[in-house]
Amino acid sequence: GFTSVAMIGCGSMGGGLALLLAENGVKVSLQDPSEEMMDGVIEKGESSGYHGMLAKSKGYKSLCASLSKPRLFIFSIPAGSVADKVLDGLLPHLFEGDIILDCGNEHFENTERRQGRATKSGVRYIGSGVSGGYQSARAGPSFSPGGDESAVQEIMPLLETIAAKDDEGRPCVGYIGKGGAGHYVKMLHNGIEHGMMSAICEAWGIMRQMGLGYEEIGDVLKKWNQSTEFRETFLIGIGADLSHKHEDSAGKPAVISEVLDKVVQDVTGEEGTGIWSNTQAIDLHVPAFTLNIAHAFRLASAFRGERLRANNASNGGFPSGELTVQNKDAFTEDLRKATYAACLASFIQGINVISRADQTHEWDINYGNVWKMWRAGCIIQSDYISKEILGPVLNSKPNPKDLIFLYNQRMMEEVRKSYPSLRRVVAKAVETDQVIPALSSTLEYFKVVTGTDLPTSFYDAELDYFGSHMFDKKGEEGTEKPEEGKHHFEWKPAKSQKE
Ligand code: 6PG
Repeated sequence: GFTSVAMIGCGSMGGGLALLLAENGVKVSLQDPSEEMMDGVIEKGESSGYHGMLAKSKGYKSLCASLSKPRLFIFSIPAGSVADKVLDGLLPHLFEGDIILDCGNEHFENTERRQGRATKSGVRYIGSGVSGGYQSARAGPSFSPGGDESAVQEIMPLLETIAAKDDEGRPCVGYIGKGGAGHYVKMLHNGIEHGMMSAICEAWGIMRQMGLGYEEIGDVLKKWNQSTEFRETFLIGIGADLSHKHEDSAGKPAVISEVLDKVVQDVTGEEGTGIWSNTQAIDLHVPAFTLNIAHAFRLASAFRGERLRANNASNGGFPSGELTVQNKDAFTEDLRKATYAACLASFIQGINVISRADQTHEWDINYGNVWKMWRAGCIIQSDYISKEILGPVLNSKPNPKDLIFLYNQRMMEEVRKSYPSLRRVVAKAVETDQVIPALSSTLEYFKVVTGTDLPTSFYDAELDYFGSHMFDKKGEEGTEKPEEGKHHFEWKPAKSQKE
């Protein structure tokens, strides 16, 4: 086993992981451009009683020398060029058999490129998602390692020791698949996470407009988190918790009341699992309404200054009005089910992207292990959804071709049960100008993807009219290829300029 490892990057995630390793008897050599960060981690280790388990190293040479074989280097650093630079510096010091475990939120193409580089020196590069935020990094996160299977199996006992455990004590980690599959699955985990967060914040906004106080909403969310469908849903649980938080001194307003409506994200262009999961959905031709709109919503929210200007230009904008409902309890129950429907849609869309990518890249993804990663520790954990709906399918060794939850009767039964509530919420919200991007697009999503007589007949006819795009005829179906149309009609023959 590993008695010592290197931790490159000592931010909140890397620092937490280093302490978690030390707690489990593994010596950790720290490396970070900031001396202060490393000192902070060592201090925390000392005060927690992990004496001498954490040490600073000066440069890659001494870092490598401090490890016993087999050598494991864990990256917890920003994606893109930073990680490339670290690999540039480290690689000349590595030997055949060494393992790098990249725990960043990295783009799978970068992971695969680095795997190619590392292999030339006999070094095995594992790309793994780590989920659950910094609290989980310290207490036990979930991991999605992918790449060289022998390397992943070599570090598996260590990962199983430190990973979060589900309610049956199973570690939330398993080999995901070849190449960049591990990072890919984590990227879509985040895509799903953002779809869910969008729906939950929209529900929160509606409850505010219904006149509920912050703490009252916290109480509602607490109840939701105990309801069948949302039982132990991490994002609902932390929502309940944060709604009750006040600054330390008495009489202070709720912390949430002071949070600006602006969701920022990385602007370097090098990070952004939310962005990548959506570009992937589009590249792979996967309709992902909820994920796409959740992302656009977050994006629009970040432009606070532009919103202020547009608000002026439009004479006060189109703000949400007060929402009065006759039966508050019944409407809140509708809201719960509507939010649940959007969470289901997020899972359906995210898994659809993963399975499509799996077919494209031939990663041979182990879906049972994807399920394990999502069981606990991570942000999208949701006990009922994972146990009752996803588990039976993901654990049945599905062929990625068949992994389409829209065709799954169990999933669609859940959707059908919540759909009327979703429709009522959207209708009511539209009437009073509530902000519901993810909820409304979820409603549209389910209508469209289960529809068999869409108005897109007219869309296609117009395309053929001006672009000779070709169309399929009713009664001549049978092709699933999106680019195939067989017929053209001369709706209006082209004439010369002089005619
Ligand atoms: C996790 C989180 C984490 C990330 C968020 C936000 O699983 O612990 O997903 O990885 O902080 O997804 O990420 P972005 O701001 O990059 O979208």
